[in-house]
Amino acid sequence: MTVIPHGLSNGGFVRDLTDTLCADAVPLDRIAAEVGTPAYVYNARAMRRAYRTLEAALAAMPVTVCYAVKANANLAVIRIFGELGAGADVVSVGEMRRALAAGIPAARIVFSGVGKTEAELAAAVEAGIGQVNVESTGELRRLSAVADAKQRTVDIAIRVNPDVDAGTLKEITTGTANDKFGIAIDRVPAVFELAARLPGLALRGVAVHIGSQIVDLQPYHNAYRRIADLVGRLRGDGHVIDHIDLGGGLAIPYDREPRVDAAAFAAVVRETLGSLGCHMTIEPGRYLVGSAGVLLARVVEWKEDLARPFLVLDAAMNDLMRPALYKAYHPIVAVRGDTGEVTAEVDVVGPICESTDVFARARALPHLKAGSLVAIGAAGAYGATLSSEYNSRPLVPEVLVDGDRVAVVRKRPSFEEMVGLERLPPWMEDSPAADRPPDPELPNAEFPNAELPNAERAAE
Ligand SMILES: Cc1ncc(COP(=O)(O)O)c(C=O)c1O
Repeated sequence: MTVIPHGLSNGGFVRDLTDTLCADAVPLDRIAAEVGTPAYVYNARAMRRAYRTLEAALAAMPVTVCYAVKANANLAVIRIFGELGAGADVVSVGEMRRALAAGIPAARIVFSGVGKTEAELAAAVEAGIGQVNVESTGELRRLSAVADAKQRTVDIAIRVNPDVDAGTLKEITTGTANDKFGIAIDRVPAVFELAARLPGLALRGVAVHIGSQIVDLQPYHNAYRRIADLVGRLRGDGHVIDHIDLGGGLAIPYDREPRVDAAAFAAVVRETLGSLGCHMTIEPGRYLVGSAGVLLARVVEWKEDLARPFLVLDAAMNDLMRPALYKAYHPIVAVRGDTGEVTAEVDVVGPICESTDVFARARALPHLKAGSLVAIGAAGAYGATLSSEYNSRPLVPEVLVDGDRVAVVRKRPSFEEMVGLERLPPWMEDSPAADRPPDPELPNAEFPNAELPNAERAAE
């Protein structure tokens, strides 16, 4: 039986007796035959397992898990966590509406994000969401005005930037003084003074999120210690602090890094913040869904026409952007295990006309023929949510496996659906012949100069 990398086995991807990779009990070649490729495949039971591991580790403390919807916003995925009692962490009205549509009660939704518009704040107040994490004094004033105008009071926390380096990729660190997030920790007391005077706001506490894919727990320790000191200072100033939002960021194994130990994380929380008597919220995204998803792709060609071999897939950077965006590592395996082919080092690429359309460099894989299937592992978080239609490639479908049950939870759009929101401007509608010369008698009402011959334009 071919060995499965940790990044895949952690999400419940196993090989059956024929050495075929399965999501839980379902062979991936069956899904590819029914749904086509590329396709995301998620393992519901692995998501529940991750949730329960974290919940059990934190059980002795008053902590609510709010799933960070940005990691994977599929309604079925949000519903899985809602059924387990989770709330949701959202960063846009779109995510808020998804959480509500998936059945998360408004009171269990936390709204984070550095640039919430007035319309978004109004929608959040209107929906009666549990908490807004305020990231600037401007936002504080805007939210106060919005809530006051509606004669509502909204629970808020101030997002603190603790100036702690999370020790993760620089592209996904959020808690240093150079990042745009939150309010510098030494300025927070003044912002509390302001918040306490503004109408429409119920000041509950503080929030912190220092980054994502955090493997080493020391940065959490540093950040939470600073938060504990801040809470002491704010209480000394007379503020009631009964809530702390711990953020997300817990790491999963992609390559050789260990899975973050939930019990060790809980020990950090207990040691730094446990004695403050606050209710706490945690906002994990990647930890709950990252390992539980693969991007299933088909080999277009093993290309030998250049100095090095390239494995060209039908999936591309628009479907899974992390390698192109952050040079992120993802495990890649053949769905059929022992193909009998010799293993070679190959660059795994997509078909897009960008040289960053590379999933892996010099990866050891069997010499796969056109039509073979591969699974790109640990793709359940920041995979589908970061995807685009670049090169007019429709968004890929999403498939949920739950034990031996399989459902398409987002279908592949047809070409008509992909272009369905586009319209030709009125002046093009009845001009099917693209090369028809412009009619000089019909000036363009919207752009009066646009179709004048150069000579006339110059003379104006
Ligand atoms: C405010 C906030 N909370 C939670 C998360 C989730 O992070 P992760 O998926 O690493 O747990 C993010 C991600 O960037 C975030 O910005």
